[in-house]
Amino acid sequence: MDPTRRAWVEVDLAAIQGNVAQIRQHIGSKCRLMAVVKADAYGHGALAVSRATLEAGANCLGVATLEEGIQLRQESVQGTIILLGAINTPEEALEVQRWQLEPTLCTPKQVLTFAEAITQPLPVHLKIDTGMGRLGTHWQEALSFVRLAYSQPTLQVASVYSHLATADEPDSFVLQEQHQRFQFVLKSLQLEGLAPPSVHLANSAATLVDSALHYDMVRVGLLIYGLSPGPHLENILHLQPSMQVRARIVQVKTLPAGSGVSYGHHFHTQQPTRVATVAIGYADGIPRTLSGKLFGLVRGQRAAQIGNVTMDQLMFDVSGLGDIQEGEIVTLLGCDGEHCISAQDWAAQLGTISYEILCGFKHRLPRVVRQFSTVS
Ligand SMILES: Cc1ncc(COP(=O)(O)O)c(C=O)c1O
Repeated sequence: MDPTRRAWVEVDLAAIQGNVAQIRQHIGSKCRLMAVVKADAYGHGALAVSRATLEAGANCLGVATLEEGIQLRQESVQGTIILLGAINTPEEALEVQRWQLEPTLCTPKQVLTFAEAITQPLPVHLKIDTGMGRLGTHWQEALSFVRLAYSQPTLQVASVYSHLATADEPDSFVLQEQHQRFQFVLKSLQLEGLAPPSVHLANSAATLVDSALHYDMVRVGLLIYGLSPGPHLENILHLQPSMQVRARIVQVKTLPAGSGVSYGHHFHTQQPTRVATVAIGYADGIPRTLSGKLFGLVRGQRAAQIGNVTMDQLMFDVSGLGDIQEGEIVTLLGCDGEHCISAQDWAAQLGTISYEILCGFKHRLPRVVRQFSTVS
């Protein structure tokens, strides 16, 4: 490991490719797989993850924004890139055309603006809102929306799709309702003689819940990164988390009993305590609200984090863990020896979702991309 690095994110491409292979096997050869690589591949680095997932059997990539799509093209990523966010202006439409991206159109207005702006026929994806309440034309108006798109000479309707709001909840009524609405839309298109080449509905959770939700493509993010969307969905695939976060100890000292540690002195030592200061903080993606609740792994042992997490550093009690030295590595997310700490552990403590934890690491830390799984 580069001795100049104080803290870093390790991205395990072998884990990502193994996860893709598992998903591929689960969905079968007739179903296509979109690898969702938006938000810099959930904090892992969109370029490396895009290449790895396409190589491992993903059929296309999904990004949220035009900028994300353009960036991949500028880095010479080939293949289909679908924009999952909306396209509103003629200027955006021309960029979509220039970079050979495939947009999502969500409203009749977006259909008309896009169709009029582009100068050559392009594939487009039509989004129906079956209950997410976010993007897409309301399911009861879907027929006229899709009909409008089909009537535009410059538009090639490549797919009709919807997004699920509660697929990660066990026995969700809303999921059933959204599915029924989607089926209603598909039936009405069929009766009209409109046959989109692809229809899709499933995110990670839905991909695990029921193969009836797969249609001819699934749009998968979280599973690719080795995490489960819900506790009840944990053991369906053998996934491997693809992100580890590690940092170096930059100072070790013994503080006497009764010493306050970190801003606010919310922690005081009860006895003489060996304190290791580690060079990673909330500016790097460690949630400050986890102060005093985190564990780190050092030499395969668990160390409790003490005091408030600061912008660039945090402290661990390493008393009794051996003669811990400056320069040693602490694992904050990932495995060391017998122990592992996952983004899901943090998310559960914070009352949030693991997606938010992963995305928190996309700003400051350098990434070390590995082909093979490693444990420090
Ligand atoms: C439209 C759409 N499809 C699929 C996904 C992938 O979701 P997940 O990471 O739960 O698989 C997302 C991500 O939020 C999305 O916005």
